[in-house]
Amino acid sequence: MSITSGAAPTTLPPFFTFHNGQLMVEGLALNALAQQHGTPLFVYSKAAILAALGAYQRGLAGRAHQICYAMKANSTLAILQTLVRAGCGLDIVSGGELERALAAGVEPCKIIFSGVGKTRAEMRRALDVGIGCFNVESRAELDVLNEVARSMSLRAPVSVRVNPNVDAKTHPYISTGLKGNKFGIAHEDVVDTYRHAASCAGLRVVGIDCHIGSQITQAEPYLDAMDRILDLVQAIETAGVPIAHIDFGGGLGIDYNGDTPPEADALWLRLLHKLDTRGYGDRKIFIEPGRSLVGNAGVCVTEVLYLKPGEQKNFLIVDAAMNDLPRPAMYQAFHQIVPLAPRSEPTAVWDVVGPVCESGDWLGRDRALAVQAGDLLAVMSAGAYCMSMASNYNTRGRAAELLVDGETATLIRARESATDQLRFESLLP
Ligand code: LLP
Repeated sequence: MSITSGAAPTTLPPFFTFHNGQLMVEGLALNALAQQHGTPLFVYSKAAILAALGAYQRGLAGRAHQICYAMKANSTLAILQTLVRAGCGLDIVSGGELERALAAGVEPCKIIFSGVGKTRAEMRRALDVGIGCFNVESRAELDVLNEVARSMSLRAPVSVRVNPNVDAKTHPYISTGLKGNKFGIAHEDVVDTYRHAASCAGLRVVGIDCHIGSQITQAEPYLDAMDRILDLVQAIETAGVPIAHIDFGGGLGIDYNGDTPPEADALWLRLLHKLDTRGYGDRKIFIEPGRSLVGNAGVCVTEVLYLKPGEQKNFLIVDAAMNDLPRPAMYQAFHQIVPLAPRSEPTAVWDVVGPVCESGDWLGRDRALAVQAGDLLAVMSAGAYCMSMASNYNTRGRAAELLVDGETATLIRARESATDQLRFESLLP
């Protein structure tokens, strides 16, 4: 599945194709976009985003549901706007994300607020604008939220995030539903927590929530988690607290390198069957997908700066780096790297690395590529957790971003300049 010759690769994500020897996104050549806007450059396909959303919408059609895009995956305003206009709510994890969500035009009642460390100020602002639900992650947080809501004479809508102790079988840094993780309230404490929440004058119980991890490529962890959540719903309701909605979180994986996660609609066919069989088919379903909506809709285009062949390793030095694409450095993640205009010459094996002064600054290892300095490469599957995790390390400005719709490209974020970066700093008197 990885690219091992100078020829065009055999598999590309939907809406990315080769045409006349050029890598295209929808109806536009990436080469032309890079010439016009410079590199590194993130380019997203609107059709790919909407197609990914469509699979969830098909899977949940006919059910009361709310898809809340986990905007941490890619929080650029125009990306949010695209999903919000198509009906999505948003899953946020900070006051900053709340302001972005509002700026993108989402109805506040379609916002859910996740995360283990909400501050009082964030709670107040979220209550003030009237968000749909707080996914609460600890008893201490529940008490603070109660206090804040009471001080505003409001009742905060709450779900408790349950830690179902299910192994999502993914990278340890992105597995969140196991007992050893910092997330959620332990299974055995959940019913008591709900009893307590129901007795608080500043809280209104609306649902239950779980999220077991990210880049999950099998259906079984979801089916297991659903069973455990439904056992809890039964116990909570027996204790006298009704649960109107069930939030099954996000986490569905994408194909980075021959991965075969279930399609969202096929997964939901199985999950809904279980929900119905267990008698909970009438509940409103919430989900919080991030990566699976945007991950394969984007690429990062980078220019080859220098070829540096060596005795032990050949290095291909490109103008994108770990500050633009942190996933390889952080999780040893694999992203396909594809020349925009593949050459027919024989390939050599390269480590593709950036200009940042760290040995961890690599984008791909041992890649067979036929390239010359000045060639352009696409780092594939870069729509999720790349730009949103980008930093200014080495005082590198963050890349520009384009959204392509058919044959139209819109600049949705300008390249950050050095002046932009120095704006918040002051010299000593
Ligand atoms: N809901 C909650 C509460 C989450 O913590 C997350 C992701 C999501 C939803 C969305 O999960 P997704 O559908 O995107 O898998 N930076 C890592 C991924 C971290 C995921 C954090 N939580 C990466 O690049 O792989």
